[in-house]
Amino acid sequence: MATTSPQLESEFNSSNIDVLISEAEIQERIKVLGTQLARDYAGKNPLLIGVLKGACFFLSDLLRATDIPLAIEFIAISSYGSATRTSGEVRLLKDLDVAIENRHIIVVEDIVDTGLTLSYLLANLKSRGAATVKLVALLDKFERREREVAIDYLGFKIPDHFVVGYGLDFAERYRNLPFIGILKNPETAQLGLPISTQPETV
Ligand code: IMP
Repeated sequence: MATTSPQLESEFNSSNIDVLISEAEIQERIKVLGTQLARDYAGKNPLLIGVLKGACFFLSDLLRATDIPLAIEFIAISSYGSATRTSGEVRLLKDLDVAIENRHIIVVEDIVDTGLTLSYLLANLKSRGAATVKLVALLDKFERREREVAIDYLGFKIPDHFVVGYGLDFAERYRNLPFIGILKNPETAQLGLPISTQPETV
């Protein structure tokens, strides 16, 4: 009996995506960042806080490149806006499970765009009495900054394009790409799912 199987279309080689930063470049840069963190935080038992969902991938590679005792936590933030633009309204969706008083905090974020999310989060964490609060960001879309944010450890500066992959999504798609790519045509990337105007984790 003849069966028809669905055409297997590669997500990783999509014609709608141009590779901006390769998997090898990401991993090489993370090794450098991990070495810097291990040197700067030796003896300090830092707490790395990953911002859900996008930063999970970066956090998981970064901590395996950081050869000192450390702990991790997660926080979830909601941002209102369209699928490709943050509006600036920020709210805490999932808080930390531990107190951070007198701890050395390293916030791990995928991308700093307008800076609105991070400026809210960093101020929030500082107000809880942490000893120090520093920021590691994989990507800096510096041309779009509206709020100044000090990035203490940076992966890459990138131009103003909407990027996906390595944790970054468009309407929840493309987080699984092992590289960072430029999404050329968001309209054709939607998989028939509505783009939410509800709060979403960043
Ligand atoms: P910001 O508050 O404008 O700095 O943006 C913070 C969040 O917006 C990031 O953590 C991402 O989740 C999302 N974001 C900003 N730019 C991009 C992008 O180019 N691709 C995917 N998500 C992005």
